[in-house]
Amino acid sequence: MRLAATRRAVGAKLARDVRSARPGALPLLRAGTTLTEEYCRALLEAGIRAVYVDDELSRGIEVTPTLSESTRTAAETALERAFREVPAALQGGDPLPEATLGELTEVAKLIAAEVAAADDAVVALADLAAADAYTLQHSIDVAVLGLILASRLFRDHGWLDGRARHSTIGVDDALVRLGVGLLLHDVGKLAVPQEILDKPTALDEHEWELVRLHPALGVELIATEQISYHSKAVIRSHHERWDGRGYPDGLSGERIPQFARIASVADVYDAVTSDRPYRAAASPAAGHATITAGTGTMFDPEVVRVFRRVVAPYPPGTEVTLQDGRRALVAGVPPGRLDRPVVRVFADRNGRPLEPFELALLDHPELRIVPVAPV
Ligand SMILES: [Fe+2]
Repeated sequence: MRLAATRRAVGAKLARDVRSARPGALPLLRAGTTLTEEYCRALLEAGIRAVYVDDELSRGIEVTPTLSESTRTAAETALERAFREVPAALQGGDPLPEATLGELTEVAKLIAAEVAAADDAVVALADLAAADAYTLQHSIDVAVLGLILASRLFRDHGWLDGRARHSTIGVDDALVRLGVGLLLHDVGKLAVPQEILDKPTALDEHEWELVRLHPALGVELIATEQISYHSKAVIRSHHERWDGRGYPDGLSGERIPQFARIASVADVYDAVTSDRPYRAAASPAAGHATITAGTGTMFDPEVVRVFRRVVAPYPPGTEVTLQDGRRALVAGVPPGRLDRPVVRVFADRNGRPLEPFELALLDHPELRIVPVAPV
């Protein structure tokens, strides 16, 4: 299986269902479908610029989704309901119904359990869904990545409690509270006009001011005793920067709640590698480079260290260029050396097809992958 640009996938066989971004909707296309020109055009119109396909070149390459289908569906359902109820609750002045928050907590538990069980799994690309309903899909993906980072970080060093003390007690509960915060981190965007969030061009000063209100608005929307201090800290502080140049409070370094520092890395990585109305998705390598470049300025260096240990810059099924110009497909990633994958070379430096063969980059220190610039 490999990830192919939709515009170059005519004739290929879909390796996975292409999901609609709307919860509960049927898949747009089923796995096994041969992509015709019409299908590819329709996918591009739906904003889907890349799809997983099966072909001769990618035979035997496995790409394991980070989250099971059933948990993703449960997350979509719970979150969609919460997003529907928040504005109504706001108008009526009521808190979010207990049942909705209970459901989100259950979902956070499911995700935390799944990512903890997938111990040495390398984070693969989420399946690409249509770009509408972005906030919903983005919230789930940020929760998954944030919980992966946190479970590794907390396992090594414990988590930081409300008094900034390292604690190894109650890690499971801490992960669930973080998960609820991650699922709801952008809930304040429900109070920002959609046309501003989806604007394909640069925002003016006034619009930008409105966007910057979303963390504080989010906490107000969930102004209830029903969710914990730690979950709220994620909502309020996920746009703070390690160097103090973030918003809304301009906190810096360890003054930023640890959960929000984790959320910030997961949020930026997912935003950069997702399709947005104003920019196409960047590759995982570009997302990886963006996080690495932000260590110590945007992000907590400790969180970035964990990120680099679990997120592969070149996940299986993606294409890379070697520094000698040859093109290759990533076939596998050795644990512990995510930057030195096994690659399947398929074209020479002039783009002429080669009989595919595999190279383990760990055994070829002289071979490098052409680096990708941060976004
Ligand atoms: Fe945000």
